[in-house]
Amino acid sequence: MGVTIAAAKLTELRTADVVALPVTAEPAIGFAAEVAARIAGLEIPSGIDAKWATKVNFSASAGETFALRSLSGPTLLLIGIGAGDSEGWRKFGAAAVRSASAKQAVGIVVPAANADLQEAAATGALLATYKFTTHKSNKAESVAKIVVACSSKTGLDKAVAAARATADAVSFAKDLINEPPGHLSPTELATRAAAKLKGVGTSTKVEVWEKARIQKERLGGLLGVAQGSIEPPRLVKATYTPAKSTAKTPHIVLVGKGVTFDSGGLSLKPPGSMMRMKTDMSGAAIVLGVVAACGSLGIKVKVTAFAPMTENMPSGTAIRPSDVLTARNGKTMEVLNTDAEGRLILADALCLGTELKPTVMIDVATLTGAQVVALGDIAAAFATTKELSDALFQAGEREGEPNWPMPLPAQFRSHIDSDIADMKNTGKSGEAGSISAALFLKEFVGDTQWAHLDIAGPSDAAGDSGYLTRGGTAFSLRTILRYLRDL
Ligand code: BES
Ligand code: MN
Ligand code: ZN
Repeated sequence: MGVTIAAAKLTELRTADVVALPVTAEPAIGFAAEVAARIAGLEIPSGIDAKWATKVNFSASAGETFALRSLSGPTLLLIGIGAGDSEGWRKFGAAAVRSASAKQAVGIVVPAANADLQEAAATGALLATYKFTTHKSNKAESVAKIVVACSSKTGLDKAVAAARATADAVSFAKDLINEPPGHLSPTELATRAAAKLKGVGTSTKVEVWEKARIQKERLGGLLGVAQGSIEPPRLVKATYTPAKSTAKTPHIVLVGKGVTFDSGGLSLKPPGSMMRMKTDMSGAAIVLGVVAACGSLGIKVKVTAFAPMTENMPSGTAIRPSDVLTARNGKTMEVLNTDAEGRLILADALCLGTELKPTVMIDVATLTGAQVVALGDIAAAFATTKELSDALFQAGEREGEPNWPMPLPAQFRSHIDSDIADMKNTGKSGEAGSISAALFLKEFVGDTQWAHLDIAGPSDAAGDSGYLTRGGTAFSLRTILRYLRDL
Protein backbone atom coordinates (compact mmCIF):
# COMPACT_ATOMS: atom_id res chain seq x y z
CA MET A 1 0.00 0.00 0.00
CA GLY A 2 1.38 3.35 -1.03
CA VAL A 3 -0.83 5.34 1.30
CA THR A 4 0.50 6.58 4.62
CA ILE A 5 -1.61 6.93 7.74
CA ALA A 6 -0.95 9.03 10.81
CA ALA A 7 -2.62 9.91 14.09
CA ALA A 8 -2.97 13.64 14.60
CA LYS A 9 -4.48 16.43 16.64
CA LEU A 10 -7.59 18.14 15.30
CA THR A 11 -5.69 21.30 14.41
CA GLU A 12 -3.53 19.32 11.98
CA LEU A 13 -6.60 18.73 9.83
CA ARG A 14 -6.24 22.23 8.43
CA THR A 15 -3.55 21.03 6.04
CA ALA A 16 -5.62 18.14 4.63
CA ASP A 17 -7.31 18.41 1.22
CA VAL A 18 -10.51 16.79 2.40
CA VAL A 19 -11.81 16.45 5.96
CA ALA A 20 -14.56 14.00 6.89
CA LEU A 21 -16.79 14.87 9.83
CA PRO A 22 -18.91 12.07 11.31
CA VAL A 23 -22.66 12.46 11.67
CA THR A 24 -24.79 10.04 13.68
CA ALA A 25 -28.05 8.66 12.32
CA GLU A 26 -29.21 6.93 15.46
CA PRO A 27 -30.89 7.63 17.77
CA ALA A 28 -31.16 10.99 15.95
CA ILE A 29 -29.12 13.04 13.50
CA GLY A 30 -26.23 14.38 15.50
CA PHE A 31 -23.49 16.81 14.57
CA ALA A 32 -21.00 16.26 17.38
CA ALA A 33 -18.23 16.66 14.85
CA GLU A 34 -19.24 20.21 14.11
CA VAL A 35 -17.53 20.96 17.39
CA ALA A 36 -14.44 19.18 16.15
CA ALA A 37 -14.46 21.32 13.04
CA ARG A 38 -14.61 24.47 15.14
CA ILE A 39 -11.74 23.31 17.30
CA ALA A 40 -9.74 22.61 14.18
CA GLY A 41 -10.57 26.12 12.98
CA LEU A 42 -12.33 24.89 9.89
CA GLU A 43 -15.07 27.02 8.44
CA ILE A 44 -18.36 25.22 8.67
CA PRO A 45 -21.46 26.98 7.34
CA SER A 46 -24.06 27.93 9.93
CA GLY A 47 -27.44 26.28 9.93
CA ILE A 48 -26.12 22.73 9.63
CA ASP A 49 -28.52 20.98 11.97
CA ALA A 50 -31.09 18.21 12.09
CA LYS A 51 -33.67 20.40 10.35
CA TRP A 52 -31.24 21.14 7.55
CA ALA A 53 -30.49 17.41 7.23
CA THR A 54 -34.17 16.63 6.74
CA LYS A 55 -34.49 19.40 4.17
CA VAL A 56 -31.58 18.15 2.04
CA ASN A 57 -32.52 14.50 2.59
CA PHE A 58 -29.32 13.62 4.42
CA SER A 59 -30.12 10.66 6.66
CA ALA A 60 -26.55 10.00 7.90
CA SER A 61 -26.69 6.30 7.12
CA ALA A 62 -23.26 4.66 7.33
CA GLY A 63 -21.05 6.07 4.58
CA GLU A 64 -23.64 8.53 3.23
CA THR A 65 -21.76 11.64 2.17
CA PHE A 66 -22.65 15.31 1.84
CA ALA A 67 -19.94 17.64 0.59
CA LEU A 68 -19.79 21.16 2.01
CA ARG A 69 -17.38 23.39 0.11
CA SER A 70 -15.46 25.56 2.48
CA LEU A 71 -14.21 28.91 1.21
CA SER A 72 -10.71 28.37 2.44
CA GLY A 73 -8.87 25.28 3.60
CA PRO A 74 -9.98 21.70 3.08
CA THR A 75 -13.21 20.54 1.51
CA LEU A 76 -15.48 19.46 4.32
CA LEU A 77 -17.53 16.31 4.04
CA LEU A 78 -20.33 15.26 6.32
CA ILE A 79 -20.36 11.48 6.42
CA GLY A 80 -22.86 9.30 8.20
CA ILE A 81 -21.76 6.72 10.77
CA GLY A 82 -25.19 5.08 10.92
CA ALA A 83 -25.72 3.56 14.35
CA GLY A 84 -22.15 4.40 15.32
CA ASP A 85 -20.96 0.81 15.64
CA SER A 86 -17.65 -0.42 14.18
CA GLU A 87 -19.29 -1.17 10.83
CA GLY A 88 -20.63 2.40 10.71
CA TRP A 89 -17.18 3.82 11.43
CA ARG A 90 -15.49 1.55 8.88
CA LYS A 91 -17.92 2.75 6.22
CA PHE A 92 -17.33 6.33 7.36
CA GLY A 93 -13.57 5.96 6.83
CA ALA A 94 -14.07 4.26 3.47
CA ALA A 95 -16.48 6.94 2.23
CA ALA A 96 -13.98 9.66 3.17
CA VAL A 97 -11.29 7.99 1.04
CA ARG A 98 -13.66 7.38 -1.85
CA SER A 99 -14.74 11.03 -1.86
CA ALA A 100 -11.16 12.25 -2.28
CA SER A 101 -9.02 12.33 -5.42
CA ALA A 102 -5.70 10.66 -6.09
CA LYS A 103 -2.70 12.02 -4.18
CA GLN A 104 -4.87 13.99 -1.78
CA ALA A 105 -4.54 13.98 2.00
CA VAL A 106 -7.75 12.89 3.69
CA GLY A 107 -8.51 13.81 7.28
CA ILE A 108 -11.01 11.79 9.29
CA VAL A 109 -12.34 12.86 12.66
CA VAL A 110 -12.77 9.98 15.09
CA PRO A 111 -14.16 9.79 18.63
CA ALA A 112 -11.75 10.41 21.51
CA ALA A 113 -11.05 7.62 24.00
CA ASN A 114 -12.58 4.89 21.89
CA ALA A 115 -9.76 2.81 20.45
CA ASP A 116 -12.13 0.30 18.82
CA LEU A 117 -14.01 2.91 16.82
CA GLN A 118 -10.84 4.84 15.99
CA GLU A 119 -9.36 1.64 14.65
CA ALA A 120 -12.53 0.80 12.73
CA ALA A 121 -12.55 4.18 10.96
CA ALA A 122 -8.85 3.93 10.10
CA THR A 123 -9.24 0.33 8.90
CA GLY A 124 -12.19 1.23 6.66
CA ALA A 125 -10.21 4.10 5.16
CA LEU A 126 -7.15 1.95 4.49
CA LEU A 127 -9.14 -0.96 3.05
CA ALA A 128 -10.89 1.38 0.61
CA THR A 129 -7.54 2.46 -0.87
CA TYR A 130 -6.77 -1.06 -2.12
CA LYS A 131 -6.38 -1.52 -5.88
CA PHE A 132 -4.79 -4.37 -7.79
CA THR A 133 -2.78 -2.58 -10.49
CA THR A 134 0.08 -5.04 -11.05
CA HIS A 135 -0.96 -5.76 -14.63
CA LYS A 136 -2.28 -2.30 -15.58
CA SER A 137 -0.14 0.02 -17.68
CA ASN A 138 -2.00 2.92 -16.12
CA LYS A 139 -1.65 2.47 -12.39
CA ALA A 140 -4.52 4.49 -10.93
CA GLU A 141 -3.24 6.16 -7.81
CA SER A 142 -5.06 6.31 -4.50
CA VAL A 143 -5.11 9.04 -1.90
CA ALA A 144 -1.64 9.74 -0.58
CA LYS A 145 -2.30 10.22 3.08
CA ILE A 146 -4.92 9.51 5.73
CA VAL A 147 -4.85 11.71 8.82
CA VAL A 148 -6.80 10.27 11.74
CA ALA A 149 -7.58 13.01 14.21
CA CYS A 150 -9.44 13.54 17.46
CA SER A 151 -9.46 15.87 20.43
CA SER A 152 -7.23 13.62 22.53
CA LYS A 153 -4.35 11.71 21.00
CA THR A 154 -4.20 9.25 23.92
CA GLY A 155 -4.29 5.74 22.48
CA LEU A 156 -4.79 7.00 18.93
CA ASP A 157 -1.36 5.96 17.65
CA LYS A 158 -1.97 2.42 18.86
CA ALA A 159 -5.39 2.24 17.23
CA VAL A 160 -3.96 3.50 13.95
CA ALA A 161 -1.09 1.00 14.13
CA ALA A 162 -3.57 -1.85 14.61
CA ALA A 163 -5.57 -0.66 11.61
CA ARG A 164 -2.38 -0.49 9.58
CA ALA A 165 -1.36 -4.05 10.56
CA THR A 166 -4.80 -5.41 9.73
CA ALA A 167 -5.13 -3.59 6.40
CA ASP A 168 -1.60 -4.61 5.47
CA ALA A 169 -2.43 -8.28 6.03
CA VAL A 170 -5.62 -7.91 3.98
CA SER A 171 -3.71 -6.22 1.14
CA PHE A 172 -1.06 -8.92 1.19
CA ALA A 173 -3.74 -11.60 0.90
CA LYS A 174 -5.68 -9.72 -1.81
CA ASP A 175 -2.56 -9.25 -3.92
CA LEU A 176 -2.04 -13.02 -3.89
CA ILE A 177 -5.70 -13.80 -4.53
CA ASN A 178 -5.97 -11.36 -7.45
CA GLU A 179 -2.76 -12.54 -9.10
CA PRO A 180 -3.48 -14.54 -12.28
CA PRO A 181 -2.78 -18.27 -11.92
CA GLY A 182 -0.09 -18.19 -14.64
CA HIS A 183 1.83 -15.78 -12.43
CA LEU A 184 1.11 -17.59 -9.19
CA SER A 185 1.98 -21.28 -9.28
CA PRO A 186 2.00 -23.16 -5.96
CA THR A 187 5.78 -22.60 -5.92
CA GLU A 188 5.39 -18.86 -6.44
CA LEU A 189 2.63 -18.61 -3.85
CA ALA A 190 4.80 -20.38 -1.29
CA THR A 191 7.82 -18.23 -2.17
CA ARG A 192 5.91 -14.96 -1.83
CA ALA A 193 4.24 -16.03 1.42
CA ALA A 194 7.57 -17.14 2.90
CA ALA A 195 9.24 -13.86 1.89
CA LYS A 196 6.48 -11.89 3.61
CA LEU A 197 6.54 -14.01 6.78
CA LYS A 198 10.34 -13.89 7.03
CA GLY A 199 10.09 -10.10 7.11
CA VAL A 200 7.73 -9.71 10.05
CA GLY A 201 10.05 -10.44 12.98
CA THR A 202 11.60 -13.23 15.00
CA SER A 203 8.33 -14.33 16.62
CA THR A 204 7.27 -15.74 13.24
CA LYS A 205 8.82 -18.78 11.57
CA VAL A 206 8.06 -20.26 8.19
CA GLU A 207 8.78 -23.56 6.45
CA VAL A 208 8.12 -24.41 2.81
CA TRP A 209 7.68 -28.11 2.11
CA GLU A 210 8.58 -29.17 -1.41
CA LYS A 211 7.31 -32.29 -3.14
CA ALA A 212 9.88 -34.66 -1.60
CA ARG A 213 8.92 -33.56 1.92
CA ILE A 214 5.22 -33.78 1.05
CA GLN A 215 5.80 -37.37 -0.11
CA LYS A 216 7.80 -38.17 3.02
CA GLU A 217 4.95 -36.80 5.15
CA ARG A 218 2.45 -38.99 3.24
CA LEU A 219 0.15 -36.15 2.17
CA GLY A 220 -1.73 -38.39 -0.26
CA GLY A 221 -4.63 -36.01 -0.87
CA LEU A 222 -2.37 -33.12 -1.81
CA LEU A 223 -0.17 -35.33 -4.01
CA GLY A 224 -3.23 -36.82 -5.69
CA VAL A 225 -4.68 -33.45 -6.68
CA ALA A 226 -1.26 -32.15 -7.76
CA GLN A 227 -0.45 -35.10 -10.02
CA GLY A 228 -2.48 -33.66 -12.90
CA SER A 229 -0.40 -30.48 -13.02
CA ILE A 230 3.06 -29.70 -14.36
CA GLU A 231 3.47 -27.51 -11.29
CA PRO A 232 4.61 -29.33 -8.14
CA PRO A 233 2.66 -28.86 -4.90
CA ARG A 234 3.86 -26.96 -1.85
CA LEU A 235 2.86 -26.81 1.79
CA VAL A 236 3.63 -23.74 3.85
CA LYS A 237 3.80 -24.03 7.62
CA ALA A 238 3.97 -20.75 9.52
CA THR A 239 4.24 -20.34 13.28
CA TYR A 240 3.77 -17.36 15.52
CA THR A 241 4.93 -17.57 19.13
CA PRO A 242 4.03 -14.69 21.48
CA ALA A 243 6.69 -13.14 23.70
CA LYS A 244 5.55 -14.67 26.98
CA SER A 245 4.67 -18.11 25.72
CA THR A 246 4.48 -21.03 28.17
CA ALA A 247 3.23 -24.62 27.92
CA LYS A 248 -0.17 -23.28 29.00
CA THR A 249 -0.47 -20.66 26.25
CA PRO A 250 -3.43 -21.54 24.02
CA HIS A 251 -2.44 -22.79 20.59
CA ILE A 252 -4.64 -22.08 17.57
CA VAL A 253 -4.06 -23.97 14.33
CA LEU A 254 -5.25 -22.41 11.08
CA VAL A 255 -5.61 -24.31 7.81
CA GLY A 256 -6.22 -22.64 4.44
CA LYS A 257 -7.10 -24.11 1.05
CA GLY A 258 -4.48 -23.13 -1.51
CA VAL A 259 -5.68 -24.24 -4.94
CA THR A 260 -3.94 -21.72 -7.22
CA PHE A 261 -6.27 -22.64 -10.07
CA ASP A 262 -9.23 -24.98 -9.98
CA SER A 263 -10.13 -26.17 -13.48
CA GLY A 264 -12.06 -29.03 -11.91
CA GLY A 265 -9.51 -31.56 -13.16
CA LEU A 266 -10.87 -34.34 -15.38
CA SER A 267 -14.32 -33.49 -13.97
CA LEU A 268 -13.75 -30.25 -15.85
CA LYS A 269 -15.70 -27.14 -14.88
CA PRO A 270 -17.75 -25.29 -17.53
CA PRO A 271 -16.03 -22.07 -18.73
CA GLY A 272 -18.28 -19.73 -16.75
CA SER A 273 -17.50 -21.43 -13.45
CA MET A 274 -13.78 -21.52 -14.16
CA MET A 275 -13.34 -17.76 -14.54
CA ARG A 276 -13.03 -16.95 -10.88
CA MET A 277 -11.06 -20.04 -9.92
CA LYS A 278 -7.78 -18.18 -9.48
CA THR A 279 -9.30 -17.16 -6.13
CA ASP A 280 -9.41 -20.78 -4.95
CA MET A 281 -6.26 -20.18 -2.90
CA SER A 282 -8.01 -17.52 -0.79
CA GLY A 283 -7.91 -19.70 2.34
CA ALA A 284 -4.13 -20.07 2.12
CA ALA A 285 -3.61 -16.33 1.55
CA ILE A 286 -5.93 -15.55 4.46
CA VAL A 287 -4.36 -17.82 7.09
CA LEU A 288 -0.84 -16.71 6.10
CA GLY A 289 -1.97 -13.07 6.19
CA VAL A 290 -3.29 -13.66 9.69
CA VAL A 291 0.06 -15.03 10.87
CA ALA A 292 1.85 -12.08 9.25
CA ALA A 293 -0.19 -9.65 11.39
CA CYS A 294 0.05 -11.49 14.74
CA GLY A 295 3.27 -9.82 15.89
CA SER A 296 2.16 -6.22 15.18
CA LEU A 297 -1.18 -6.85 16.83
CA GLY A 298 0.39 -8.33 19.95
CA ILE A 299 -1.58 -11.56 19.71
CA LYS A 300 -1.12 -13.47 22.98
CA VAL A 301 -1.75 -17.02 21.77
CA LYS A 302 0.39 -19.37 19.71
CA VAL A 303 -0.70 -19.67 16.09
CA THR A 304 0.33 -22.27 13.53
CA ALA A 305 -0.92 -22.10 9.95
CA PHE A 306 -0.83 -24.89 7.38
CA ALA A 307 -1.47 -24.00 3.75
CA PRO A 308 -1.45 -26.84 1.21
CA MET A 309 -0.93 -25.48 -2.31
CA THR A 310 -1.57 -27.05 -5.69
CA GLU A 311 -3.22 -26.58 -9.05
CA ASN A 312 -6.18 -28.75 -10.04
CA MET A 313 -5.66 -29.59 -13.71
CA PRO A 314 -6.81 -32.23 -16.22
CA SER A 315 -4.06 -34.20 -17.97
CA GLY A 316 -2.80 -37.69 -18.73
CA THR A 317 -1.35 -37.87 -15.24
CA ALA A 318 -4.40 -36.47 -13.45
CA ILE A 319 -6.41 -38.47 -10.91
CA ARG A 320 -9.47 -40.08 -12.46
CA PRO A 321 -12.99 -40.15 -11.09
CA SER A 322 -13.06 -43.47 -9.12
CA ASP A 323 -9.40 -43.31 -8.06
CA VAL A 324 -8.64 -43.85 -4.37
CA LEU A 325 -6.20 -41.69 -2.39
CA THR A 326 -4.84 -42.28 1.11
CA ALA A 327 -4.67 -39.27 3.43
CA ARG A 328 -1.93 -38.73 6.02
CA ASN A 329 -3.92 -40.41 8.79
CA GLY A 330 -4.35 -43.56 6.66
CA LYS A 331 -8.00 -42.98 5.78
CA THR A 332 -8.88 -43.75 2.17
CA MET A 333 -10.82 -41.36 -0.06
CA GLU A 334 -12.60 -42.38 -3.25
CA VAL A 335 -12.43 -39.50 -5.72
CA LEU A 336 -15.71 -39.60 -7.61
CA ASN A 337 -15.47 -36.00 -8.73
CA THR A 338 -12.02 -34.47 -9.25
CA ASP A 339 -13.61 -31.03 -8.83
CA ALA A 340 -14.16 -31.76 -5.13
CA GLU A 341 -10.40 -31.32 -4.68
CA GLY A 342 -10.39 -28.89 -1.77
CA ARG A 343 -11.42 -31.46 0.80
CA LEU A 344 -8.72 -33.84 -0.46
CA ILE A 345 -5.87 -31.42 0.22
CA LEU A 346 -7.43 -30.07 3.43
CA ALA A 347 -7.68 -33.63 4.77
CA ASP A 348 -3.87 -33.90 4.99
CA ALA A 349 -3.42 -30.41 6.41
CA LEU A 350 -6.09 -31.04 9.07
CA CYS A 351 -4.21 -34.23 10.06
CA LEU A 352 -1.02 -32.19 10.51
CA GLY A 353 -2.91 -29.67 12.64
CA THR A 354 -4.61 -32.34 14.75
CA GLU A 355 -1.26 -33.96 15.54
CA LEU A 356 -0.17 -30.74 17.30
CA LYS A 357 -3.09 -31.16 19.76
CA PRO A 358 -4.12 -27.50 19.48
CA THR A 359 -6.68 -25.75 21.67
CA VAL A 360 -8.68 -24.89 18.57
CA MET A 361 -8.28 -25.55 14.85
CA ILE A 362 -9.99 -23.40 12.19
CA ASP A 363 -9.90 -24.01 8.46
CA VAL A 364 -10.87 -21.50 5.76
CA ALA A 365 -11.74 -22.63 2.27
CA THR A 366 -13.55 -21.64 -0.92
CA LEU A 367 -14.99 -25.11 -0.68
CA THR A 368 -18.42 -25.52 -2.24
CA GLY A 369 -20.76 -23.99 -4.79
CA ALA A 370 -23.51 -25.18 -2.46
CA GLN A 371 -22.42 -22.58 0.09
CA VAL A 372 -23.04 -19.85 -2.50
CA VAL A 373 -26.51 -21.23 -3.18
CA ALA A 374 -27.38 -21.48 0.51
CA LEU A 375 -25.92 -18.27 1.93
CA GLY A 376 -24.45 -16.11 -0.85
CA ASP A 377 -22.07 -13.57 0.64
CA ILE A 378 -22.50 -14.88 4.18
CA ALA A 379 -19.92 -17.51 5.03
CA ALA A 380 -21.02 -20.94 6.25
CA ALA A 381 -19.56 -21.69 9.68
CA PHE A 382 -19.36 -25.25 10.94
CA ALA A 383 -18.04 -25.88 14.45
CA THR A 384 -17.77 -28.78 16.86
CA THR A 385 -18.61 -26.62 19.90
CA LYS A 386 -21.16 -23.89 20.55
CA GLU A 387 -18.47 -21.83 22.25
CA LEU A 388 -16.32 -21.71 19.11
CA SER A 389 -19.32 -21.16 16.86
CA ASP A 390 -20.46 -18.20 19.01
CA ALA A 391 -16.98 -16.70 19.16
CA LEU A 392 -16.60 -16.81 15.37
CA PHE A 393 -20.11 -15.48 14.86
CA GLN A 394 -19.43 -12.51 17.11
CA ALA A 395 -16.05 -11.81 15.57
CA GLY A 396 -17.65 -11.89 12.12
CA GLU A 397 -20.43 -9.50 13.14
CA ARG A 398 -17.93 -7.13 14.64
CA GLU A 399 -15.80 -7.08 11.50
CA GLY A 400 -18.62 -6.83 8.97
CA GLU A 401 -17.76 -10.32 7.70
CA PRO A 402 -20.92 -12.23 8.63
CA ASN A 403 -20.91 -16.01 8.98
CA TRP A 404 -23.85 -18.23 9.80
CA PRO A 405 -23.76 -21.38 11.96
CA MET A 406 -24.42 -24.62 10.07
CA PRO A 407 -25.05 -28.13 11.44
CA LEU A 408 -22.80 -31.19 11.34
CA PRO A 409 -25.56 -33.83 11.51
CA ALA A 410 -24.15 -37.29 12.27
CA GLN A 411 -26.90 -38.95 10.23
CA PHE A 412 -25.57 -37.23 7.07
CA ARG A 413 -22.32 -39.18 7.33
CA SER A 414 -23.99 -41.71 5.05
CA HIS A 415 -23.88 -39.09 2.27
CA ILE A 416 -20.15 -39.67 1.93
CA ASP A 417 -20.16 -43.46 2.37
CA SER A 418 -18.08 -45.12 -0.35
CA ASP A 419 -18.53 -48.62 -1.78
CA ILE A 420 -14.82 -49.33 -1.78
CA ALA A 421 -13.04 -46.78 0.47
CA ASP A 422 -13.51 -45.11 3.88
CA MET A 423 -15.36 -42.22 2.27
CA LYS A 424 -16.08 -40.63 -1.09
CA ASN A 425 -15.41 -37.01 -1.97
CA THR A 426 -18.94 -36.26 -3.18
CA GLY A 427 -22.18 -36.05 -1.22
CA LYS A 428 -25.75 -36.80 -2.21
CA SER A 429 -26.51 -35.21 -5.54
CA GLY A 430 -28.27 -31.87 -5.08
CA GLU A 431 -28.48 -32.19 -1.29
CA ALA A 432 -26.63 -30.35 1.48
CA GLY A 433 -23.35 -30.11 -0.45
CA SER A 434 -21.65 -27.78 2.04
CA ILE A 435 -22.57 -30.08 4.92
CA SER A 436 -21.26 -33.25 3.28
CA ALA A 437 -18.01 -31.40 2.51
CA ALA A 438 -17.75 -30.32 6.16
CA LEU A 439 -18.48 -33.87 7.36
CA PHE A 440 -15.71 -35.10 5.06
CA LEU A 441 -13.25 -32.68 6.71
CA LYS A 442 -14.46 -33.73 10.17
CA GLU A 443 -13.04 -37.21 9.47
CA PHE A 444 -9.56 -35.70 9.85
CA VAL A 445 -9.81 -33.62 13.03
CA GLY A 446 -10.12 -36.34 15.67
CA ASP A 447 -11.49 -34.78 18.85
CA THR A 448 -9.86 -31.41 18.25
CA GLN A 449 -12.17 -28.44 18.84
CA TRP A 450 -12.58 -27.39 15.23
CA ALA A 451 -14.37 -24.94 12.97
CA HIS A 452 -14.63 -24.79 9.20
CA LEU A 453 -15.43 -21.57 7.31
CA ASP A 454 -16.72 -22.12 3.78
CA ILE A 455 -16.16 -18.74 2.08
CA ALA A 456 -16.89 -19.68 -1.56
CA GLY A 457 -19.51 -16.90 -1.86
CA PRO A 458 -17.97 -13.91 -0.08
CA SER A 459 -14.39 -14.59 -1.28
CA ASP A 460 -14.89 -12.53 -4.43
CA ALA A 461 -16.61 -9.13 -4.81
CA ALA A 462 -18.22 -7.91 -8.02
CA GLY A 463 -17.46 -4.25 -7.42
CA ASP A 464 -16.06 -1.53 -5.17
CA SER A 465 -18.40 -0.45 -2.43
CA GLY A 466 -17.56 1.06 0.94
CA TYR A 467 -14.44 -0.63 2.24
CA LEU A 468 -15.05 -3.65 0.00
CA THR A 469 -12.95 -3.76 -3.18
CA ARG A 470 -13.56 -5.56 -6.44
CA GLY A 471 -11.96 -9.02 -6.78
CA GLY A 472 -10.52 -11.08 -3.95
CA THR A 473 -11.87 -9.97 -0.58
CA ALA A 474 -9.76 -12.03 1.86
CA PHE A 475 -13.11 -12.44 3.66
CA SER A 476 -12.70 -13.86 7.17
CA LEU A 477 -9.11 -12.67 7.59
CA ARG A 478 -10.25 -9.84 9.87
CA THR A 479 -12.71 -12.17 11.63
CA ILE A 480 -9.90 -14.57 12.53
CA LEU A 481 -7.65 -11.73 13.69
CA ARG A 482 -10.48 -10.43 15.86
CA TYR A 483 -11.06 -13.91 17.27
CA LEU A 484 -7.34 -14.22 18.12
CA ARG A 485 -7.21 -10.75 19.67
CA ASP A 486 -10.23 -11.51 21.86
CA LEU A 487 -8.82 -14.79 23.26
N1 BES B 1 -13.52 -24.26 -5.64
C1 BES B 1 -14.77 -24.91 -5.78
C2 BES B 1 -15.89 -24.24 -4.96
C3 BES B 1 -16.31 -22.86 -5.37
C4 BES B 1 -17.45 -22.69 -6.16
C5 BES B 1 -15.63 -21.74 -4.93
C6 BES B 1 -17.85 -21.42 -6.51
C7 BES B 1 -16.04 -20.46 -5.30
C8 BES B 1 -17.16 -20.32 -6.09
C9 BES B 1 -14.67 -26.36 -5.31
O1 BES B 1 -13.44 -26.96 -5.47
C10 BES B 1 -15.65 -27.16 -6.11
O2 BES B 1 -15.49 -27.21 -7.29
N2 BES B 1 -16.62 -27.78 -5.44
C11 BES B 1 -17.58 -28.58 -6.08
C12 BES B 1 -17.80 -29.85 -5.28
C13 BES B 1 -18.70 -30.85 -5.91
C14 BES B 1 -18.07 -31.39 -7.17
C15 BES B 1 -18.97 -31.96 -4.94
C16 BES B 1 -18.87 -27.79 -6.17
O3 BES B 1 -19.24 -27.15 -5.18
O4 BES B 1 -19.49 -27.78 -7.23
MN1 MN C 1 -13.19 -27.79 -7.43
ZN1 ZN D 1 -11.79 -25.71 -5.52
